[in-house]
Amino acid sequence: MSTTANSAVSTDLPLGRVSGKVVLISGAAQGMGASHASLLASQGGTVVIGDVQKDSAESIAEKINETEGREAALGVFLDVTDYSSWEAAVASTVERFGHLDVLVNNAGIYTPGSVVDASVEDWQRTIDIDLTGTFYGMKAAVKELKKSRSSSIVNISSIAGLVGFKHRAAYSAAKWGVQGLTKTSAMDLGEFGIRVNSVHPGSVNTPLTAGLKRGFGQIPVGRAAEAEEISSLVLYLASDESRFISGASIAVDGGETAGNNLREDT
Ligand SMILES: NC(=O)c1ccc[n+]([C@@H]2O[C@H](COP(=O)([O-])OP(=O)(O)OC[C@H]3O[C@@H](n4cnc5c(N)ncnc54)[C@H](O)[C@@H]3O)[C@@H](O)[C@H]2O)c1
Repeated sequence: MSTTANSAVSTDLPLGRVSGKVVLISGAAQGMGASHASLLASQGGTVVIGDVQKDSAESIAEKINETEGREAALGVFLDVTDYSSWEAAVASTVERFGHLDVLVNNAGIYTPGSVVDASVEDWQRTIDIDLTGTFYGMKAAVKELKKSRSSSIVNISSIAGLVGFKHRAAYSAAKWGVQGLTKTSAMDLGEFGIRVNSVHPGSVNTPLTAGLKRGFGQIPVGRAAEAEEISSLVLYLASDESRFISGASIAVDGGETAGNNLREDT
């Protein structure tokens, strides 16, 4: 049993927590999406990696198949801003694996700027990918998810969808939109046995944040997360262990939105 350096908590996971489940993940050719795909596959799931970067999606799928020693992954082209692309990805999933049980709406971009300096083009592109892409994904997948005994939608928002976020007008609006869409859909889809939750990561080390100048003083645990630390929550929400959790907005942020960590009253 392995343990983390600063705690006695085991990092070993029991095998098969999503055995038999087929999971479609958008934007999974790199970063957090690729990490979610690997962890879910290692826990018995079958993952479909949808991304505009088709070659990378296919090569991540190949690596997962090699590691797992079975057909645990498939890479497909998916542009989340195109509804027909979503329909094709869902159809490929069902054609290849027979069913769809979990959707992870992970694809997202971030654009900088306040309402003063964000461009109209950046606003539209961010809303199209981060918010409309999430709506399209749910809309395209729900017909298949309804057929599953227990299904789950995991929408990746951000802490920018929990609190205000300086210089991120479009990103924050899109990610708050994802939270609203999640809670509303949890109410609409519960009767079909579909749970819907949103995950709100704080600062995570991925290609998305590689070029950013980030400070960590505002984060009580004093560091950014690794992608795997977000994947653990995605795995839990995808699995039946979370079968009574729906409509929740869960922060994975090292305490960043708990309060003002920079306030130093004595
Ligand atoms: N990295 C962070 O600190 C952080 C924090 C909070 C939330 N998030 C969110 O987590 C998610 C994943 O972020 P990441 O850091 O892994 O990003 P990333 O840039 O490493 O990966 C995003 C993936 O989405 C894909 N993508 C972009 N546009 C697409 C489209 N139109 N259709 C399909 N795929 C598309 C990209 O090709 C890429 O593979 C995003 O929704 C992001 O907003 C990230």
